[in-house]
Amino acid sequence: MKPVARKIGIIGHGAIGARVAADVAAGKVAGASLEGIVSRSPVPNAPAARLDMAEALERCDVLVECAGQEALAEHGEAVLSAGVDLLATSLGALADPDLSGRLSAAGPGRLFLTSGSIGGLDLLASGARATGYDAVKITTTKLPASLVQPWMDEKEEDRIRNTAVPLEIYQGPADQATRLFPKSLNVAAAVALAVADWGVDVSVRVDPAARLTTHVIEAAGNSGTYRFEICNQVSPQNPRTSGIVPFAVLRSLELIVGARGGII
Ligand SMILES: NC(=O)c1ccc[n+]([C@@H]2O[C@H](COP(=O)([O-])OP(=O)(O)OC[C@H]3O[C@@H](n4cnc5c(N)ncnc54)[C@H](O)[C@@H]3O)[C@@H](O)[C@H]2O)c1
Repeated sequence: MKPVARKIGIIGHGAIGARVAADVAAGKVAGASLEGIVSRSPVPNAPAARLDMAEALERCDVLVECAGQEALAEHGEAVLSAGVDLLATSLGALADPDLSGRLSAAGPGRLFLTSGSIGGLDLLASGARATGYDAVKITTTKLPASLVQPWMDEKEEDRIRNTAVPLEIYQGPADQATRLFPKSLNVAAAVALAVADWGVDVSVRVDPAARLTTHVIEAAGNSGTYRFEICNQVSPQNPRTSGIVPFAVLRSLELIVGARGGII
């Protein structure tokens, strides 16, 4: 007998959420059906009805957060407490120890974190479990405009926007990086979570000639020495997001739904 499809709700219908919703609606995730979309703004061309959070918790088995750190902070605990599984993209929200503690304690829903725009997290987590690391670093390079933040003063904004050469604009721990660049440094959070250390060293660089968004992840420890270099095309819908992210979310979702096996 064919198992009943698990009902999926998507929080956010932007660059990531719209593609995830479309592919789930089109039956491209084994064992999943699209139940609805939770969004702050209207979703005129969405493939399913807009739900408020109470309706989503009533009707969905899995919610997929594609809306930002604030949304994960706002809804995460209620989702898990309602017994609904939650797949998150905005991992930087977990740099807040209070939120992170509350989400770890909440259930019976389970919190899953997508690998998003990077890879190698499985190996990094295996090494952390084995013996830990002496040093872990991530260097992220993006186009200047995508890294300008509301907290920057005019001088810093000009320096970034008008640089003719590559420039390091941040160097420090992952928790601070993801707070300062909430829409762009979820990757730093992903590495920190994989190695269970928010002190992971982060370098953020702008490069006016960058055609791709680049992440270089380096880790050294007793289990080995690892180096991953990821060069992503940006999303045509949102230059702060890599185009690969919705497909990482779809892959994660298919594994959670569990209708078939695969690389984990
Ligand atoms: N893990 C990763 O590698 C990775 C990579 C890129 C982006 N992200 C995360 O994904 C988020 C979404 O990215 P995007 O490119 O789709 O952004 P986007 O701006 O294109 O879309 C965001 C959508 O969420 C909606 N929204 C915002 N706050 C909401 C709330 N509280 N409740 C419901 N809906 C809300 C907006 O209306 C919009 O439809 C980013 O903010 C970032 O935190 C993670």
